[in-house]
Amino acid sequence: MDWRVPLADLDFGAAEEEAVLQVIRSRWLSMGEVTKGFEQEFAAFIGAKHTLAVTNATAALHLACVAAGVGPGDEVIVPSLTFVATANAVRYTGATPVFADLESLDWLNISPTSIEACITDKTRAILVVHYAGFACNMPAIMEIARRHSLIVLEDSAHAIGSELEGRKLGTWGNIGCYSFFSNKNMTTGEGGMLATDDDALAEKLRILRSHGMTSLSWDRHQGHAYSYDVVDLGYNYRIDEIRSALGRVQLGKLPLNNQRRADLTRQYREWLIELAPQVKMPFGEQRGTSCYHILPILLPPGTDRIHFMENMKVHGIQTSIHYPPVHRFQIYHEEWQRHGTPLPLTEEAASREVTLPLYPTMNDEQVRWVAESVQQSLQS
Ligand SMILES: Cc1ncc(COP(=O)(O)O)c(C=O)c1O
Repeated sequence: MDWRVPLADLDFGAAEEEAVLQVIRSRWLSMGEVTKGFEQEFAAFIGAKHTLAVTNATAALHLACVAAGVGPGDEVIVPSLTFVATANAVRYTGATPVFADLESLDWLNISPTSIEACITDKTRAILVVHYAGFACNMPAIMEIARRHSLIVLEDSAHAIGSELEGRKLGTWGNIGCYSFFSNKNMTTGEGGMLATDDDALAEKLRILRSHGMTSLSWDRHQGHAYSYDVVDLGYNYRIDEIRSALGRVQLGKLPLNNQRRADLTRQYREWLIELAPQVKMPFGEQRGTSCYHILPILLPPGTDRIHFMENMKVHGIQTSIHYPPVHRFQIYHEEWQRHGTPLPLTEEAASREVTLPLYPTMNDEQVRWVAESVQQSLQS
């Protein structure tokens, strides 16, 4: 469909094309020097000791759970207002995701109070999601984890470059997981990154990323190794050089692009307050610095959301829903009904949420058009 304003758009150009060409001409395509460079630059950007590039964030989340020792019989506390991959990663290990509720309709992140109420003697980890790029209450969550000896994993798929108290999101817990999927703040098409300050966890993640092997094809190509042992049941979650090359260029663009997202979000807030004050824009409070991954609004209670989205489509505007709550999906619902706790804030937010277009190459006129269309779409 030819949208007047799409939900998201790429900032790709000559630099990305050149980076890909260079890799092709180098004649080495899987994880090698370019990936090493990408990992080092990403580590420097977020302030982490170790980073490991992987296939995608789903793989990163899976490896994080495995490396953290999550397994059958364990419970991991997660939000339900997230992409299904967050909970699926827990399930891959044989453990059970336990859904906690949100802080409030003003801050759509997992609530420390709800986390604490979900803790049992089976709880092994807390897997938080920094929804839309906004910070979870990490000081409170880290304190709960300390008191109960729990591991903290961060799904930072939305939060590339976000900070809290001067520290990048994804570096607060034991392991952070980032996504470079094509709609993310920086993209390699498909791709992801793991981050940790823990040497032992980093070594475990490194081994698990590539079949549990002690050396890589790259090491052997370099003449550094002739053979290998297999010391763990690993996976093939490696990235390739073409995507790492894209990642390096995109990382260079990230600070300015995140700043542009911040400015656009400010514009949206001003115009929506003026034109559609009945719409709620969460995350108005000042808490750290967001990377403004997406722009979620909550429609007035009782609004027919599909009708609203169809009206927006007539105006040429693509909208989305982030997210259908995970506990309502068929494969999670029965378990949640039997053992889960009520999630009233998640249910309400998920039923009223609509995501408006936001991307760094968007212009001010497009924001104005979206805000005017929100006003009209609520009336017709
Ligand atoms: C919150 C969240 N977690 C995990 C993922 C999975 O990321 P990937 O597509 O890189 O596997 C996504 C991707 O959209 C996401 O939004």
